[in-house]
Amino acid sequence: MIRTWKFCATALCAFVLCLAAAERPYEEMMKELAGACTSLKNNLDAKSMEGATADAAKLEKLFKEMEKFWSKKKVADATQWAKDGGTAARMIVKASKAGNGEEMMTQFKNLTGTCKSCHDVHREKGPDGKWQIKI
Ligand code: HEC
Repeated sequence: MIRTWKFCATALCAFVLCLAAAERPYEEMMKELAGACTSLKNNLDAKSMEGATADAAKLEKLFKEMEKFWSKKKVADATQWAKDGGTAARMIVKASKAGNGEEMMTQFKNLTGTCKSCHDVHREKGPDGKWQIKI
């Protein structure tokens, strides 16, 4: 009896872990990305290097997650934009550590450019007025 229970508990754990590792809703990822992006812009405006570095590091992770999502779906252009965004975020971290504000702004423009490129092609308003993925 106890053994059965143990087995069930283990199976349940494995199941929950699996769920946690599975993809979260795309929308949630986008909202986090938008939040980090706004925060980065504010930190850049305020010339707060420390805050900007943290935001850019977070953005790099989120872009990586996005890149995985699109590469799984085999959408080449979106995968590339996600990759470019991640590269720009990484360059911001680097420039920030080097104290190069100008380079940070240039890379920030590159980063936000990827938002528009991808939205223009892969985002559309659904019948309920909510954003959805268009492939
Ligand atoms: C590789 C493609 C891609 C890139 C790059 C991208 N997005 Fe998106 N985004 C989408 C798609 C597709 C949707 C619509 C699906 C959704 O909202 O769930 C979306 C939706 C959104 C939404 C609406 C979320 C909602 O449903 O309420 C916001 C906000 C957003 N993106 C912000 C950004 C910002 C900011 C960036 C750049 C820093 C960015 N996105 C970069 C593809 C992308």
